[in-house]
Amino acid sequence: MTAAVSLLITLFGSLLLVAASAYPFYQNFYVGWGGDRAQFLDNGELLTLSLDKDSGSGFQSKHKYLFAKIDMQIKLVPGNSAGIVTAFYLASHGRHHDEIDFEFLGNLSGDPYILHTNIFCRGKGKREQQFYLWFDPTADFHNYTILWNSHLILFLVDGIPIRAHKNLKRKGIPFPKHQPMSVYSSIWNADDWATMGGLVKTNWSEAPFIASYKGFGVKGCVWREVSSNCNTSSSNKRWLSHQLDYASEGQMKWVQNNFMIYNYCLDAKNFVLGFPPPECNVRSNN
Ligand SMILES: *[C@@H]1O[C@H](CO)[C@@H](O)[C@H](O)[C@H]1NC(C)=O
Ligand SMILES: *[C@@H]1O[C@H](CO)[C@@H](O)[C@H](O)[C@H]1NC(C)=O
Ligand SMILES: *[C@@H]1O[C@H](CO)[C@@H](O)[C@H](O)[C@H]1NC(C)=O
Ligand SMILES: *[C@@H]1O[C@H](CO)[C@@H](O)[C@H](O)[C@H]1NC(C)=O
Repeated sequence: MTAAVSLLITLFGSLLLVAASAYPFYQNFYVGWGGDRAQFLDNGELLTLSLDKDSGSGFQSKHKYLFAKIDMQIKLVPGNSAGIVTAFYLASHGRHHDEIDFEFLGNLSGDPYILHTNIFCRGKGKREQQFYLWFDPTADFHNYTILWNSHLILFLVDGIPIRAHKNLKRKGIPFPKHQPMSVYSSIWNADDWATMGGLVKTNWSEAPFIASYKGFGVKGCVWREVSSNCNTSSSNKRWLSHQLDYASEGQMKWVQNNFMIYNYCLDAKNFVLGFPPPECNVRSNN
């Protein structure tokens, strides 16, 4: 091989690599709704979603995944975001769908957002846990991660686990593990419930409301409809076997002790015959 040819190959190879990494949003997502309220900026490195009186907006992944670790950096709507929900979640389709949710409930200027989390298994949700954040989520981008493997669902904020839902492999304790899920993100008006239980309404004279996304990363098993199986191309498969270690449990307890404001496991309206849902009685699953 001549030097020129090998130089060309090297150049071409690195061009391909650059192209592959420069357009993560175009490559991985399409705009699901809201038209040009969703905007790809900075060569697809940055994506903004906006909400006005007529519509919100949302994007979704091109692929479905059966187990994945999904990272997203989000900067939430600043100022008065009362009534507005910004969400980042995984969901499958159909009536008996599974879902793993991060929802950010907006608030008046200076009042705290609520991070609302939920898990649906075969169409049944009501597994809500809510938190305040230990930083202002509108001042800068922060990392929100959903890790979903066959042992565990983990919600992380800036790498700190805030919630775990373990696969206890016991009868009657559901865990989503059969249906592939897509990644979604959206912004919409929910002023009937989001802020102080619906008391504070969206102030439309301050629209449009804009949330920003970047740094999308996915390590996952891409679902192939044809072969009905899942394959992971990622060389780093550590996330597939990730379990909560002692240090992470400690971090999670710190968040839960200091920032958790609602836990379905402790809410008597979810109890059946006086007992909390079966997954709740287990250490670090509540
Ligand atoms: C988010 O993750 C990225 C990539 O790992 C890192 O560079 C950045 O510092 C993180 N941001 C925060 C606020 O932790
Ligand atoms: C909004 O602020 C009020 C007052 O600080 C607080 O009670 C509430 O939890 C905050 N968040 C939401 C989403 O209502
Ligand atoms: C809505 O926002 C406008 C513009 O900032 C402000 O003048 C008005 O007082 C706000 N309305 C309410 C109900 O807070
Ligand atoms: C995953 O993909 C590789 C290479 O494309 C293939 O050899 C392997 O059989 C696939 N595994 C499964 C479980 O489909």
